Amino acid sequence: MIDVIQIPTTRFTLLSYILKDQETGEALVIDPPKEIGRWLERETLNILAVINTHTHPDHTQGNLFFHGGIPILAHPAEKSFMLRAINSIYTLLSSRKTQPKIDFSLNEGNHLSLGDTTIEVIHTPGHSPGSVCLYWPGNLIAGDTVFAVGIGRSDIPGGNNTMMKQSLERILELPEDTLLWPGHFYDEKYCARLRDSRRTIVWCMNNLL
Ligand SMILES: [Fe+2]
Repeated sequence: MIDVIQIPTTRFTLLSYILKDQETGEALVIDPPKEIGRWLERETLNILAVINTHTHPDHTQGNLFFHGGIPILAHPAEKSFMLRAINSIYTLLSSRKTQPKIDFSLNEGNHLSLGDTTIEVIHTPGHSPGSVCLYWPGNLIAGDTVFAVGIGRSDIPGGNNTMMKQSLERILELPEDTLLWPGHFYDEKYCARLRDSRRTIVWCMNNLL
């Protein structure tokens, strides 16, 4: 059984996550914030990997904490020069440090084991080329693809409306009681069931050009 530890950060209204298996203490850290160290002190964890749902700088700030040792994973489509350049410049300006190396090997259909639970990687391009969601029964770590209310922007560099629609269609096929764990708490909404977000997601999809 996995505990979802949600980490809100006021800056960027970011939501990061620690997924922890209750039995083994095995954990994945998702989109770590700059303050991730403080959160890790509270838990006894065997961290298997850090996952960036995508590499926009707000979702990778805490990667610095994991310099060496623990792998930092993202989808290969995030490997573009532009995305890496933006990320490196932001990190340098905000922390005067260089980003640790990201392993761009996280692909559609990969399975990650956390104790007895298998987590599936779903490639959901649209907000960025290599955005991913993580699914296991009852739960979806949604990054910036869907929020509790609304969807991620696809009218930005690296975004793509057509791909976004296709990604959202896949999410809408998940069971209705799936909990959506988004990458931001816009409108002070931290989590939602798919059944409660469906109508807004469909409306947003239909209004993508
Ligand atoms: Fe983003």
